Amino acid sequence: MPRPCGSAAVKLGGSLVTVKDRPYTVRGEALAGASRILAAYWRSGGRRLIVVHGGGSFGHYEVDTLRGELGARDLPAAAAPRIQGAMLRLAARVVEALRGAGLPASLHTTHTICECRECRYTPLLRDLGEGLVPVAYGDAVPCRGGLVIVSGDQLVVEAGLEAGVDCIVFTIDAPGVLDGEGRVIGELGPGDPVPRLGGAAHDVTGGLEAKVEWARRAAAGGARVYITGLGGLLKVLEGGRAGTRIVV
Ligand code: IPE
Repeated sequence: MPRPCGSAAVKLGGSLVTVKDRPYTVRGEALAGASRILAAYWRSGGRRLIVVHGGGSFGHYEVDTLRGELGARDLPAAAAPRIQGAMLRLAARVVEALRGAGLPASLHTTHTICECRECRYTPLLRDLGEGLVPVAYGDAVPCRGGLVIVSGDQLVVEAGLEAGVDCIVFTIDAPGVLDGEGRVIGELGPGDPVPRLGGAAHDVTGGLEAKVEWARRAAAGGARVYITGLGGLLKVLEGGRAGTRIVV
């Protein structure tokens, strides 16, 4: 059995912490459960932890609504504040839950640390060095008159690799990556096809395929990488196996 993760970067998927088809709705129990697990891990001895969360029915919904209102797929920079506002509301709920579980969560607004898709992680690394638990999230970043949506998957991988964490874990609202029969795929290797999922409603950042792409980059960067449900989170942080391990 591999060693427990001495340090970890964990993405809380938007589909896990929000009700994806109900605008602006937090899944309070899942969020509280995730926070308790992360706190148990963090308390279990000198662990370093970065937390990133997704947009779910806050960010994705707001992007969809704006696209409908403006009749355009590509949004202007002027639309960014509304998406940022939606994400700040969710981020406030997430850090509140993390703090409620006893974690010293320090929030970093993603649009202030990124230039288009290039993000600077030094503020997060500083907080990590101070013993805090830095938190960031998928967000809208103004970019040359338009805006880009920087996903939480990108952030968790880049911040995690820059911090040199042992493990990068993506949590989703399924026990792992599922095959056509709904069974968890235990390991996804470099050439393995990524199953196509239906129902990617309100997903503006590429869904499962993009997630696996980022997970592969994380594994190539030397991290132990898992995509798992909440039920497998503590297990993988403690060095066990659960969900789908991504290998390169
Ligand atoms: C998306 O972030 C953020 C916005 C839509 C503003 P993610 O792509 O990380 O979100 P989830 O996890 O898929 O919901």
